[in-house]
Amino acid sequence: MTSPSRQDVSSEQPENDPSSKAGRKPRVFSGVQPTGDLHIGTYVGALKQWVERQKERDNIFCVVDLHALTVPEGIDPVQLRNAARQVAALYFACGIDPDENIVFIQSQLHEHAELTWILNCITPLGWLQRMTQFKSKAQRAESIGTGLLDYPVLQAADILLYDTDIVPVGEDQRQHVELTRDIAVRFNNLFEEVLVLPKVVVPEVGARIMGFDEPEVKMSKSIAVERRGHAINLLDDERTIKKTIMSAVTDSERELRFDRASPGVRNLLTLYQVLTGNGRAEIEAEFEGQGYGVLKKALLAVVLDTLAPIQARHREIMDDPDGLDTILRKNADRARETAANTLERVKNAVGLG
Ligand code: AMP
Ligand code: TRP
Repeated sequence: MTSPSRQDVSSEQPENDPSSKAGRKPRVFSGVQPTGDLHIGTYVGALKQWVERQKERDNIFCVVDLHALTVPEGIDPVQLRNAARQVAALYFACGIDPDENIVFIQSQLHEHAELTWILNCITPLGWLQRMTQFKSKAQRAESIGTGLLDYPVLQAADILLYDTDIVPVGEDQRQHVELTRDIAVRFNNLFEEVLVLPKVVVPEVGARIMGFDEPEVKMSKSIAVERRGHAINLLDDERTIKKTIMSAVTDSERELRFDRASPGVRNLLTLYQVLTGNGRAEIEAEFEGQGYGVLKKALLAVVLDTLAPIQARHREIMDDPDGLDTILRKNADRARETAANTLERVKNAVGLG
């Protein structure tokens, strides 16, 4: 593979972004698919880190509805359109400032699909076939569409269109961002240095939240649809959240230590750590000599405290659909300025247009 060395997640220094040398804030791009409800894993792995560092960065957050088409079974057009708006509203409800950041819906810009085509033509098939997410989704899918295989190229186009320096995501997306770098390097070598190489940033704690009912597997939207008790969705009511946490799988020990806990207990401790912001030693001291019930009650309280204001704000935003649509339209126009400019550079380099 032609990839340069893998990048350290702690470093945020962009490599070949000319505008960053002019001293501007690092450009961030990330996104979530509007498929199924957003759960606490998405919040901890992605949204929370977006919100916490939004001021230091120049951010673009996208609702990637074109990606949602890659598993076409059961797609309902009305539902997809609503889900895209719901997710955008959740970004704002979680604390993304609509005046300081760009939030838009991917399908409102044709540039994403157009750049995907050009990148498709330089991406070796083998690179896509070895993506672990493709392999696991392909196993579960009734039939495998070409879009499912091509999914990471569309993701690369999303990222590369905005000269992105940093992509903050959960651990499961690391491989896709590394592939994006490989594609950008290949393009730059084949044509000219047009594309900026992005870096992946995953949170130090909480990059892989596990299912409450099966702590050996990553908490996922598709399992959450099938099994109650797997995930806490951001819009769940108090009763459901309580039931999910109280019935979370633990074990028959009483090990409330991060290094010795079983996967289920470690998952609860990790969530508690991320949501309280307390250190591990402090948390171990807090629960010393206590049973798992005490940990679960404490976690329940902090989850409810986190989600209550998000849910209230989400209701407010969804009560003003015209306001939301206006913001999204304006934001798409702002995103288009950058996307169109990059696409133009790419087309010039290739000899198109
Ligand atoms: P998705 O909902 O699959 O579009 O994922 C949206 C974002 O949430 C991506 O950055 C994922 O890496 C992150 N994410 C999804 N599930 C988890 C999880 N269980 N733990 C941590 N991060 C996650
Ligand atoms: N594939 C990502 C996920 O499932 C979503 C995504 C699409 C994305 N395009 C992106 C994330 C660009 C970061 C940057 O989570």
